[in-house]
Amino acid sequence: MINVSNLSIRLGGKSVVEDVSFTAEAGTMTAICGPNGSGKTTTMKAISGELAYQGAVQMNGAEIRGLQPWQLAEMRGVLPQASAISFPFTVREIVRMGLTSGRNRHPEQADRIASEALASVDLGGFEGRFYQELSGGEQQRVQLARVLCQISEPVIDGKPCWLLLDEPVSSLDISHQLTIMTLAQRFCQRGGGVIAVMHDLNLTALFADRMVLLKTGRLQAAGPIKTVLTDQHLQHVFGCNLRVNRVPVDDAPFVLAHSALAD
Ligand SMILES: Nc1ncnc2c1ncn2[C@@H]1O[C@H](COP(=O)(O)OP(=O)(O)O)[C@@H](O)[C@H]1O
Ligand SMILES: [Mg+2]
Repeated sequence: MINVSNLSIRLGGKSVVEDVSFTAEAGTMTAICGPNGSGKTTTMKAISGELAYQGAVQMNGAEIRGLQPWQLAEMRGVLPQASAISFPFTVREIVRMGLTSGRNRHPEQADRIASEALASVDLGGFEGRFYQELSGGEQQRVQLARVLCQISEPVIDGKPCWLLLDEPVSSLDISHQLTIMTLAQRFCQRGGGVIAVMHDLNLTALFADRMVLLKTGRLQAAGPIKTVLTDQHLQHVFGCNLRVNRVPVDDAPFVLAHSALAD
């Protein structure tokens, strides 16, 4: 379990995240949603162990402040929102950066994990390409393959591993969005846990089990999709008229935007 309690973060002298609490369970996908600037990335950075915070963030029962970088690296993989790479690395080199050095791997095993990770994000055959010559969506999938090399098993020594994904599908076409969301869902079904920052409320409704809604750094709602994805919550958080409907065939919720709120 990841247990975030009373998380507060100040950046540049201002409060960016204030008193946010929620839990994420292994075996489920938790989506963090909210408008631009609402603190989603900042919250993810704290959970990843990359940012100082007040409050508590426990991962599998351990406060992450007390963990060594190698312990964190074995427990969670992080897909940042933006990954600028200034050197001409190949796809193979980037993906293999995810292979944690502490683990003794046979070179053939490392190659197999890297190839499988690339194939799982539909980039088989891209190994020799230069990262900077790929499209934005292809780069995003290379980064995800790197994360999957680092966290190649959803459960290690009986403990769940975590994928922390900041907007994993925001620059992908519809088919690759489904590929990546399905991959994350399978990771959960095999016992791992996923927290993903999402903008697409319909993909969130289809794939996530729980939702955390942020507005201006504060928690507005957290819980199962059905209780959080409501007209009232969405209207309040996003400031526009949104209607949550149900797909007749399988009762899946979908959100229809119909107008900006009148001033
Ligand atoms: N390093 C920083 N210094 C000062 N303010 C920051 C910094 N990083 C982010 N912010 C501010 O914090 C708020 C939340 O940012 P962020 O977590 O990136 O939002 P989101 O991911 O929800 O779009 C924004 O108003 C942003 O401008
Ligand atoms: Mg962000």
